[in-house]
Amino acid sequence: MKVYAPINIALIKYWGKASEDPVLPSTPSISLTLEDLGSETTLETSDAFKFTLNGTPLQGEALEKMRTFFRLFSSDEKVHISSVNTAPTAAGVASSASGFAAFSLLLKETYAPELAFDAWVKQTAYGSGSATRSLLGGAVMWHENGQVSNVPFHADHYQMAVVMIDTRPKKVSSRAQMKQSLTHPNFHDWQRRNRDRAEAMIQAMAADDFNAIGTLMESSTLDMHGLIALSGGGFSYLTDASMAVFNALRDARSQGLNMYGTADAGPNIKVLFETSHRDKVETFLATLGYPVVYSKIALEGARICT
Ligand code: ADP
Ligand code: DP6
Repeated sequence: MKVYAPINIALIKYWGKASEDPVLPSTPSISLTLEDLGSETTLETSDAFKFTLNGTPLQGEALEKMRTFFRLFSSDEKVHISSVNTAPTAAGVASSASGFAAFSLLLKETYAPELAFDAWVKQTAYGSGSATRSLLGGAVMWHENGQVSNVPFHADHYQMAVVMIDTRPKKVSSRAQMKQSLTHPNFHDWQRRNRDRAEAMIQAMAADDFNAIGTLMESSTLDMHGLIALSGGGFSYLTDASMAVFNALRDARSQGLNMYGTADAGPNIKVLFETSHRDKVETFLATLGYPVVYSKIALEGARICT
């Protein structure tokens, strides 16, 4: 069986777990599922448990992480799973989201086809919290109670571009770093602001108000990176090059070309823009000197390939 799951990029960020078992986020998050970057994953029988990622057989801890997730669905470990990402792996472009969404769909279809949607979402979160949002297309909210639902949104009015500043794997995992943020005295203020932003984002999306959507996205992004720096002794996933792209987007806005940026646990910047401005955006982003990948918003999340 072969499945595909698209990545998703959070406009309102998930950063911190209220509970690890079950996995529950400390605030709601809201993302857009992006059609053109994702993970394709297949399963076949084998003599032992094997997982091949981007052509390389996983070993040690990386393999054990996959086995632990597999055991949530089945104890018959004689399978070989292969997955290929079209986004860079572990570079802050959501490979864990598409990867675990695809893996979770594959396991549900193979071992637990009768599993209810809500229970499946909760199981997916053990792989990666952000993966829950790649189970659906469009704009998706991961709620504090662990469920996901669509947020009404004119998905065809918008697209995203990923500015690939540095696609090497990160040195510090988001899972470890978000745990450190949880105990910082500023965490609760951040949590309150991010919850408020999620409410405001639902309104902005319903009103199709691009500038409100973009401003809320940038503020959730920069607030998260501020908290990471505060709780990590000055640590940042963002580099000078990332900040230079945020500055370039601000300059472009001051000249009438509206684009907004976001970044996750890595230096790469995702740019949200209006579909009607794609030509101008392409011309502008080409001047930055980095490879850029464009994507429409996916209508569908994780799916079985026919
Ligand atoms: P990213 O910023 O790309 O989401 P993370 O460091 O959060 O990076 O997650 C990377 C991890 O996600 C990998 O080490 C692996 O455990 C998992 N992962 C990535 N791609 C896949 C995939 N296609 N299938 C299953 N798991 C994957
Ligand atoms: C910065 O979903 O990778 O991308 O649940 O521990 O696997 P785990 O974390 P993960 O964290 C994603 C954090 C983020 C923001 C987001 O996608 O909302």
